[in-house]
Amino acid sequence: MSKFYLQLFCVIFVAGAFLVNGDGEEIGVYEIKKGDFSIKLSNFGARVMSMFLPDKNGNLADVVLGYDTINEYLNETKRFGPIVGRVANRIGGAQFTLNGITYKLDVNEGNSTTIHGGSKGFSQRVWSVKKVVKDGPIPSITFTYRSADGEEGFPGAVIATVTYAITAPYKLTITMKAKSLNKATPISLAHHSYINLGGHNSGDILSDEVQIFASKYTPVDSKKVPTGEIVTVKGTAYDFRKPQTVKSGISKLPKGLKGFDMNYDMNNANQKYMKKVAVVRNEKSGRVLKVWSNAPGMQFYTGDSINVTGKGGYQYKNFAAMALEPLGFPDSVNHPNFPSQIVYPGKLYKHVMHFEFST
Ligand SMILES: *[C@@H]1O[C@H](CO)[C@@H](O)[C@H](O)[C@H]1NC(C)=O
Ligand SMILES: *[C@@H]1O[C@H](CO)[C@@H](O)[C@H](O)[C@H]1NC(C)=O
Ligand SMILES: *[C@@H]1O[C@H](CO)[C@@H](O)[C@H](O)[C@H]1NC(C)=O
Repeated sequence: MSKFYLQLFCVIFVAGAFLVNGDGEEIGVYEIKKGDFSIKLSNFGARVMSMFLPDKNGNLADVVLGYDTINEYLNETKRFGPIVGRVANRIGGAQFTLNGITYKLDVNEGNSTTIHGGSKGFSQRVWSVKKVVKDGPIPSITFTYRSADGEEGFPGAVIATVTYAITAPYKLTITMKAKSLNKATPISLAHHSYINLGGHNSGDILSDEVQIFASKYTPVDSKKVPTGEIVTVKGTAYDFRKPQTVKSGISKLPKGLKGFDMNYDMNNANQKYMKKVAVVRNEKSGRVLKVWSNAPGMQFYTGDSINVTGKGGYQYKNFAAMALEPLGFPDSVNHPNFPSQIVYPGKLYKHVMHFEFST
C-alpha cells in the first residue's frame, strides 16, 4: 500500500466518508443508534469500532477497545471488534481431515496453530455493505463477505452475512449466517469485541463480577488447543456458576496461568435455543452486560496480553478488557466428540447473539 493511500485513509477517516484501499476496495465507517446507545462500525472486518452507552448516572462511555483510525486496524493482531472466521479460535496442528482429504491451514500462532481463521481470516478483509438503517425502531447494518475456495487453506467458497441490529434499547443483536457454495467446510463465526464496562480507558476489568452459566469446559494443552476432554468446572478456577470477580477467579488458576482464555460448554450442541450464557457487572459504573447466544460454546478471555496503544493514545494494559465470545468449540474439526462445525452446501449456518446492557 502506498504512502499516499495511508495518508488518504487518515484524512478521509476523520471526515467520516469512504476510503479506498490499495486494492480499490471501499472502507467506510457507519453509525447505528437508538437514544444514547450508539455504535460505530466498519466494513473492514465487519467490525465494531466503538459502543457508547450510559452509566448509572447517565454519563456516556465507549465500552470497547479499539483504535481511532482504520489505518491502525489494517495490520493489528488483537482483532478488536470484528467478526472472526471462517473458523474462530484455534485449530491445532493447523490442519484437519474431512472426507479423507487433509487440509493444511495458515499457521499464525506459535509454529503449528491456526487462530482467528488464519492471518487475515474474515476479520482483516473488506466486506460489502448490504444495508444501513441508521436509526428508527430497529437500526441495523448488514455486511457480506465472499470467502474463496482455498482461502487460508479451507475447502470451498463461503458467503457470510452479518447483521448488527439494535433490537431494543441498549440491546445489540448480532446475526451471523453463512453458506458453503460448493464443498463441505467448517464454519464457526464469532464476534470479537474487547469489553470494559467501565469504559475503554478506565483501567482494568479485574474487579468486574462475572457469571457464566456453564458446568463444563474444554481443557487445553500448552498451546491453548483443546485436548478433546469436556470436564466439570466443579472445584476448579473455571467455576463461574456463582458470580465472582475476575481477580478472584484468577487467584484460583493453576500456577503459570495469568488469566482466563477458555471455552465453556454451553450445553447447546444443536444450537436450538437462545440461552443466557454470561452476566458481567461493573460496580463503579453500574453497567451490567448480559450475553445471550445459540452457540455450543463461549470463549472467556480476560485480556492477559493486550498491551497496545489504543483510542485517544490511551495505553491499554493487560487486563484492560475481557472478551465473551459465543462460538463453536475450538478445534472442533479435530475432535469428533465436539459439536460438529461442518456445513454442507445447501445448508445454512446461523449463529445469533445478544449483548444486552443495563444499569
Ligand atoms: C500492513 O502490512 C503490509 C504488508 O503486510 C504493509 O505493506 C503495510 O504498509 C502495512 N500497513 C500499515 C498501516 O502498517
Ligand atoms: C516451534 O517448534 C520448535 C520445535 O518443534 C519448538 O522447540 C519451539 O518451542 C516452537 N516455537 C513456538 C513459538 O511454539
Ligand atoms: C508491552 O509492549 C512493549 C513493546 O510494545 C514492551 O516493551 C513491554 O515489555 C510490554 N509489556 C508487557 C507487560 O507485556
